[in-house]
Amino acid sequence: MHLLRDRGYVHPVPSEITPRAAYLRRRQLLGALAGTFALPAAQAQAARPGKLAPLPGARSGVAGAVVMDKPTPYTDASTYNNFYEFGTDKADPARHAHTLKVRPWAVAIEGEVKKPGTLDIDALLKLAPMEERIYRLRCVEGWSMVIPWVGCSLAELIKRVEPTGNAKYVQFVTLADPKQMPGLRSSVLDWPYVEGLRMDEAMHPLTLLTFGMYGEVLPNQNGAPVRVVVPWKYGFKSGKSLVKIRFLEKQPKTSWELAAPNEYGFYSNVNPKVDHPRWSQATERRIGEDGLFAKRRATLMFNGYEPQVGQLYAGMDLRKHF
Ligand code: MTE
Repeated sequence: MHLLRDRGYVHPVPSEITPRAAYLRRRQLLGALAGTFALPAAQAQAARPGKLAPLPGARSGVAGAVVMDKPTPYTDASTYNNFYEFGTDKADPARHAHTLKVRPWAVAIEGEVKKPGTLDIDALLKLAPMEERIYRLRCVEGWSMVIPWVGCSLAELIKRVEPTGNAKYVQFVTLADPKQMPGLRSSVLDWPYVEGLRMDEAMHPLTLLTFGMYGEVLPNQNGAPVRVVVPWKYGFKSGKSLVKIRFLEKQPKTSWELAAPNEYGFYSNVNPKVDHPRWSQATERRIGEDGLFAKRRATLMFNGYEPQVGQLYAGMDLRKHF
């Protein structure tokens, strides 16, 4: 995310700067084509991309789970990614993630739970009925997307493994296999990629254990076969390709906190009033709306999910706990 670390020296990723112009030119061309052959919005949304196995979900009834913003085109959502295990350029994950093997796959459950163990991905898929949730995703870099995810509340899994009274935090550990992930050769982050939530955040019904998007299983570059999506936090809180979920008494360190503690805190709630030390967080660029005259949008507190999640942070100083 705008930084590469080698031996303590922090500098911008060159690949993040140069190809942007090329990317914008391509977007303008695609935008012009889409205008020519535009489908009515409802029809476009219903059409599955037809690239991967179907994974339908019933429209979610959870409050706030379906935003009205127009979904980002699948092509953008699956080719403009952050998944550093496959490289730091936005196009790298789509280019390289075909080497990720998503079967067999299991997720280990460890720590402060009465039922630790290993859950096979196919058992996880049957944990609860699949729901479709249309969430905004806001990246800390200043861009956003709207993605129809398929999954179930993470709470369904948490209830099943019965956390003990000592479980105050949940840590997510994602795959780190150099044989499948060329990006691990770089020391940009300490691998494996780790993230965490407070227990009440993890139990919130909007926190999604995610298996699919756009009515199909997740493309590898979006975190197949299972990831989390936490819509009111910056995108980096949503760890991809999960292999372990740990229940902890103490707040765990996260990969981005370890890489740059002054820039990335544990909470990382989307907050237009707390700027990143190197750039403003007041506005965002909606991917798919680039173009010469596209306006940046005002970023919303908690990414627009304040009515649902604001209470979780009542009384907390969000400048201190950024
Ligand atoms: N998970 C892993 N394992 N590795 C990563 O580099 N990047 C994060 C997050 N999850 C990342 C990750 C960041 S910075 C963002 S913005 C989102 O994934 C992007 O998700 P998307 O590519 O599906 O939009």
